[in-house]
Amino acid sequence: MMSCLRCFLLFSFFLLQAGLVLAQVNAPSPVPDRVILNLTEEPSTSAAVTWRTDTTVNSAIVELQKAGPIVDNKASVVFPAETVTRNYSWYGEAEVVSNHHSCRLTGLEPGQKYIYRVGTDKSWSEWFQFQTPSEDASRFSFLYFGDPQTDLKSRWARVIRQAFMHSPDCAFMLYAGDLINRAGRDSEWHEWFLAGSFIYGTVPQLMTPGNHDYNDLILDPHWNAQFTLPTNGPKGLEGTCYAANYKNLKIISFDSAADSELENEDGYALQAQKAWLDSVLQTNTKEWVIVTTHLPFYSPKESRDNKLLRKHFQPILEKHKVDLVLTGHDHSYGRGRTTDSPGNGHEVMYVVSVSGPKMYEAGDKAWMEYSGAFKQLYQVITIDGNELGFQSFTADGDLFDEFKLKKNE
Ligand SMILES: [Fe+2]
Repeated sequence: MMSCLRCFLLFSFFLLQAGLVLAQVNAPSPVPDRVILNLTEEPSTSAAVTWRTDTTVNSAIVELQKAGPIVDNKASVVFPAETVTRNYSWYGEAEVVSNHHSCRLTGLEPGQKYIYRVGTDKSWSEWFQFQTPSEDASRFSFLYFGDPQTDLKSRWARVIRQAFMHSPDCAFMLYAGDLINRAGRDSEWHEWFLAGSFIYGTVPQLMTPGNHDYNDLILDPHWNAQFTLPTNGPKGLEGTCYAANYKNLKIISFDSAADSELENEDGYALQAQKAWLDSVLQTNTKEWVIVTTHLPFYSPKESRDNKLLRKHFQPILEKHKVDLVLTGHDHSYGRGRTTDSPGNGHEVMYVVSVSGPKMYEAGDKAWMEYSGAFKQLYQVITIDGNELGFQSFTADGDLFDEFKLKKNE
């Protein structure tokens, strides 16, 4: 009897150890990992980089130089990083304590290729290469993904990799929220970073948060520790509501996941973002304006409808003739140019898409000019002067949908 109990205890102990070891695939070390470039307000002259180590690394730097055929050990400009420590715990998983290092690389030249590495004299990342955009209105493409959210390693990784192979010179990658499923759960971020790997350090990334990036009204503590996004939005919504310029495009993220998905009509998150959005668009000088936010203005799903979002934000988008709104949340595809107020003089093109494997049915809604369901998708959006080309592809690279927008048509 006693020996059986001993065997059971021993077996349980080994199981526990195995579980802890498995959970620790996401543990940081002194070696930089999770290196990511983020788009800044003015990417032609700046870039933002963030990475992670364990807490033995308290100060770190970025070395930057113009790209050439070889790395020149003496040519680097050094940028000191800011460091923050974050503690992440999740039920049944080992606690993770990380130092996140971030740095804005400023004074860059437009249209220039650079290389950079991050770390310390004891431990460096590899050199990453990226290019700042020129300041003219020449052609560029960027990639847009709906919710990655679940099965990030197993089923989402191939989507971002296929998208990158499809458009390796893409200007940036945009995510319309719900990057992971459980806000604060580091093991899911481990999978998200594994999926994109070196791509994140090479192509600037731009993301708006979804409801799954919040937990009990609190933004995932990873968000502003591991991403260095623009902070030019309303106070308190730094890194979630902001605007950036890219050539002749103004790209805007507003946070529709904040404050219980903006259900509080008198709430600060809704009112502050409305006023901010109106003022940004009022002074905009860029030819194209694209807005991203997590909640769709119009849903493909039969049972969903975000009327409050339209009530508060659609008049602003129409007043300033916003071209395109890129969203997620509904786990299917739908797009259409429409309005709740015919006669306002402008109709915005709204898109809902999904890149991860979590799928819902798409309904038969009148607003949709094209729709689909049960497909993992990525989108290549190309702006060439006064023309915008939009193409949606399936995870295996087949064209699924396309349309064009033209200025002064
Ligand atoms: Fe969502």
